[in-house]
Amino acid sequence: MALVTSNLKKEMSFLTAVSEAFKRTDGNSAFVVLNAETSEILAIKRGAPLVAGLHEANSDASVSSDPYALVGSSETIYFPGDEVLVLLSKRNNDIISFFELDGSESKNYKSKQQEMSLEATDKGDFEHFMLKEIYEQPGLIRDLVQFYLAGEGAELLTKVSALKPEKFHISACGTAAYAGMVIRDFIEHRNRIPCAVELASEFRYRNPLLREGEVGLFISQSGETADTLAAQGLCVENKMKTISIVNVEGSTLYRDCDENLLIRAGIEIGVASTKAFTQQALTGCLLSYALAGDLTSEEKKKEIADKYSLLAERIDDILSRVDELKKIAEEIYNYNGFFFTGRGQYFPVALEGALKLKEIAYVHAEGYASGELKHGPIALIDDQMVNIAIVGPKLFDKTISNIQEIKARRGVIVGLGPKGESDLDDICDFKFDLNFDGLGELSPLYVNVANQLLAYYMAKFKGTDIDKPRNLAKSVTVE
Ligand code: M6R
Repeated sequence: MALVTSNLKKEMSFLTAVSEAFKRTDGNSAFVVLNAETSEILAIKRGAPLVAGLHEANSDASVSSDPYALVGSSETIYFPGDEVLVLLSKRNNDIISFFELDGSESKNYKSKQQEMSLEATDKGDFEHFMLKEIYEQPGLIRDLVQFYLAGEGAELLTKVSALKPEKFHISACGTAAYAGMVIRDFIEHRNRIPCAVELASEFRYRNPLLREGEVGLFISQSGETADTLAAQGLCVENKMKTISIVNVEGSTLYRDCDENLLIRAGIEIGVASTKAFTQQALTGCLLSYALAGDLTSEEKKKEIADKYSLLAERIDDILSRVDELKKIAEEIYNYNGFFFTGRGQYFPVALEGALKLKEIAYVHAEGYASGELKHGPIALIDDQMVNIAIVGPKLFDKTISNIQEIKARRGVIVGLGPKGESDLDDICDFKFDLNFDGLGELSPLYVNVANQLLAYYMAKFKGTDIDKPRNLAKSVTVE
């Protein structure tokens, strides 16, 4: 700001003063500068999120790092490119105008109509956004399948599957990376296309083997995660096509990828990602169906729609039994540590369950593949350690024997598994019954809702700031 002030003192115009100051900065950043004398605002960015919004009838314009912040105040959202000056001024005919650094008019921006209403940013009767977002999942699943099988989404899936990748490089961060692991399982199982899943923060520094003909698949709620964007850029440099599975339409990832599959989760306000995870994984599953050519058959489409609606029903059932999970959370929230374990398709949701718990309840939690415990972590098991054991019908006996090893070391067992299995019921200190029948590959997304609610209630008993946990930001726009 000192640079801008000193430029203004040299009699430069406001636009030139900001532009000249910005030219002297390095790295990724976004600036918003208010001229107190004229009430004009200039905003500019490089490699960081910046959006502008306009409500023409009210003669109102705003800038923000996130389009969701403009819901209710703007009808049109503008996404400027890097190094484009956005001028908000009531002195001009156009309240918002765009300029290049040399002061000439710029066309380097995109715009779209705001589709969200203020209602979407309201908690309603829920105490926290996180809880509201968990409860939204069944409805969102039903909408997603409609959009992709019977609505505008069908064309998007056709375009993406036409890329016919030799291999997918899936890259993302945090929860989105765990959704990537679930998607890898869908694609490798159904399409037999190799998928490498990597944390975006590692991928970009590892000099990965990338070839033309391979496709980068990037998963993100915000579409603004710095590492994910850099991983996408690396794939582009290597002449690969890139696809996003993303929530925020118009975000940087959305604009930078060749094709995009929207997850249609609506605004996710809770820092802990819940509904976005479910929608990301389910969008990836639809991609696997499209790649297999299944969406050309009406019979197959009905089968898929039925499967998604069964998942929504089963999640509704978990939500109707929330008191059972709340009770378990009350019994266990004061223990020292938590191991979430699962095998095969449940391993990614064991990782996700642990991440959710640590980020909102501030307790030590780890996700582990059940079979790996004896390779080290079992040394940590004692009567102060809780094992949240995710037990599906597949590999049931092997998973039970892993739990027995924990039980033998006095660990506290919380079983999330099928009803009426006495082998499981007998070793659990606490048990939440699940009905996996007919869910098949979608089962991880079902049990994960129990994980979300356990984390939510443990955090509530601990009294943490659930929607805005300490040290965390909703979008991680820095490395
Ligand atoms: O916006 P993104 O999906 O790219 O964000 C990725 C992670 O930062 C995010 O999933 C984070 O791990 C969540 N806070 C987890 O709940």
